[in-house]
Amino acid sequence: MPETDDSSCVYKNRDAPVEARVKDLLSRMTLPEKIGQMTQIERSVASPQVITHSFIGSVQSGAGSWPFENAKSSDWADMIDGFQRSALASRLGIPIIYGTDAVHGNNNVYGATVFPHNIGLGATRDADLVRRIGAATALEVRASGVHWTFAPCVAVLGDPRWGRCYESYGEDPKIVCEMTSLISGLQGEPPEEHPNGYPFLAGRNNVVACAKHFVGDGGTDKGLSEGNTIASYEDLEKIHVAPYLNCIAQGVSTVMASFSSWNGSRLHSDYFLLTEVLKQKLGFKGFLVSDWDGLETISEPEGSNYRNCIKLGINAGIDMVMVPFKYEQFIQDITDLVESGEIPMARVNDAVERILRVKFVAGLFEHPLADRSLLRTVGCKEHREVAREAVRKSLVLLKNGKDTDTPFLPLDRNAKRILVVGMHANDLGNQCGGWTKIKSGQSGRITIGTTILDAIKAAVGDKTEVIYEKTPTKETLASNEGFSYAIVVVGEPPYAEMKGDNSELTIPFNGNNIITAVAEKIPTLVILFSGRPMVLEPTVLEKTEALVAAWFPGTEGQGIADVIFGDYEFKGKLPVSWFKRVDQLPLNADADSYDPLFPLGFGLTSNSG
Ligand code: GLC
Repeated sequence: MPETDDSSCVYKNRDAPVEARVKDLLSRMTLPEKIGQMTQIERSVASPQVITHSFIGSVQSGAGSWPFENAKSSDWADMIDGFQRSALASRLGIPIIYGTDAVHGNNNVYGATVFPHNIGLGATRDADLVRRIGAATALEVRASGVHWTFAPCVAVLGDPRWGRCYESYGEDPKIVCEMTSLISGLQGEPPEEHPNGYPFLAGRNNVVACAKHFVGDGGTDKGLSEGNTIASYEDLEKIHVAPYLNCIAQGVSTVMASFSSWNGSRLHSDYFLLTEVLKQKLGFKGFLVSDWDGLETISEPEGSNYRNCIKLGINAGIDMVMVPFKYEQFIQDITDLVESGEIPMARVNDAVERILRVKFVAGLFEHPLADRSLLRTVGCKEHREVAREAVRKSLVLLKNGKDTDTPFLPLDRNAKRILVVGMHANDLGNQCGGWTKIKSGQSGRITIGTTILDAIKAAVGDKTEVIYEKTPTKETLASNEGFSYAIVVVGEPPYAEMKGDNSELTIPFNGNNIITAVAEKIPTLVILFSGRPMVLEPTVLEKTEALVAAWFPGTEGQGIADVIFGDYEFKGKLPVSWFKRVDQLPLNADADSYDPLFPLGFGLTSNSG
C-alpha cells in the first residue's frame, strides 16, 4: 500500500500546480520506479504482479488484443481497472495510462461506432465534423476504461502505394493541418491562453491523443512502409512537420516516433528531429513514445544489439518505450545504461517528468478508474448519426452520366427492379477496412452496423425489388428481366501497414472485369471501397454511368444511400491525386508534369455531369 500520507504530499494535492506535483513526485521516485514509468507493456504480458513489481507506467492493447473476442466496453473496463488497481497499490500509487489504437472510433471494441478512415475524412474538408468525431470517439474510448488513443495519424501522403495511405488525411499539408482538429475533439478544446506545446486534457470525457508518426512517415520513397523519406530539411519541415505545429498548438499530449527514416537516419534515434526540432524548436512538453518495438528499427539487422538501440533511442529523445513484450530485458538494459552513465540521469528525469505531466494533466490521479456512466454512449444513435454524416460528406462523385445533360444520379428509389453486385455490398468488415477488430481488419459481419446493401433495401420503395449477387451470375447478366439499374460495390479487402504496400493498385477480386461485365448489360453505378486511388480501366470509365469513391466508410452504410438516392448532395473532394497509371507515381499536385485522371480537389455534385 502507498507509504505516503496525503497531507504531506504535494503530488497528491489535486489543487497544487501541475509542475509542483511533477517535481514533488519525481523527487520521491527511485530509479526502478522511474524506469517503470518509461516502460509500456502489452496487456497479454501484464499482470498485477508484473505491474507492481516493475512499477509499469503504461499498458496497451495492440490492435485486436481484447480481453476476449467480441468483448464489450464493460469487459474492457473490468480488465483495465484490474491493471489500474495493481498500479495504485504500489508505494507511490502512480496510475498507469492505458493506450490503444482507436483510430476511427473505438474500433477494437465490439459494438463501437466505426467512423470513416482518415482518407475519407480528408475528402470532407470539414474540420468541425472531424472535431465532433474526436469528441464522440473520446466518450466511447473512456467508456472502455482506456485513457489514451494512438491517434491521429497526421502523415502527409506522398505515394498511394503506401499501405497506410488510408490513415492519412491526404497529400496536401493544408488539409492534414485542418484535420488535426480531431485532437481538440479527443482531448477537449484548449483555452485561448493555453501555453503552446503544453499537454492539455479537458476532463474525464476526454482521452489523451497521440500525433503520429513523427516525422515523414507518409513521404517514404515508393511509399514503402517503414521506408526512407528523402528530402531536404526545408521540404521535410514544410510538408511533414507542418501538421505537428497544429497538433502542439492544440495541446496534444503525446507524439509517436516513426518507424521510417529521413535521408537514411532512423527516426527512433534521430536526436536532431526528436529533441532539437520536436521538443526544443516546436516546444513540445508532452511525452514522445516509441512505436511498437520501434527501438529495434535502430539497428541493422533489426533487433541486433538491443542494449545499444535503447541507448540511442532514449538519448535521442524517446521518453516512453512501447516495448511491448520483452520488458524484463528492456528494464535490465536501461538500468545498466543509466548506472553506467551511458544514459544520463538528466535524460531519465526529463522523460519521467514528461510522462508524469501528462498523467497529472489527464487527471489520472483523481480519476484512475473507468466511468461506467459512459457505457451508454457506446455505439449510440447520436454517434452513429455523426458517422453517417461523415460518410455522406466523404463520398467523391467521379462520374455522373455520359454527359452533363444526362446525369445518372440521384437514383430512382421507386425503380421496379435493381441489381446489387459485389463482395463489398454486404460485408461490414470490408466496409470498415483495417484497424477494425484486429489490426488488418476482417471481412464479414464483425460488429454492429449497416452494410450498403442493408441501406439500399431500407431506402428504396416497398415495390422495388432488390436482387443481390455477391458475384454476378451469367444467367442474371444474360436475363432480359429488365433491371432499371445496377449498383456494383467492389474494392480492396481490409489490410494494415506493410501488408497494404502495393505497387499495382488494381481493384482486387477481378473488380474491373466485374464492373465491365455488368455495365455492358445494365446502366451501372460503381461504388469503390478502397484506402486510396486505384487503377480504373478505360472500359470502366467508358461503360459505367456513374462512379463514386467511398474509401473505407465504417459501420454507417446509410450515409451512402442518403446521397446516391438524392436525400443529400455530394460534397466530397479528392484528398489525393487520382493517377491514370501507376507508372506516374508518385503524383502530387505540386509536381511540374501533373497529369492525373482526376486532380486533387476534384468532385462532382449529383446535379452536374
Ligand atoms: C503499429 C503502428 C502504430 C500503432 C502501434 C500500436 O506498428 O505503427 O501506428 O499505434 O503499432 O499498435
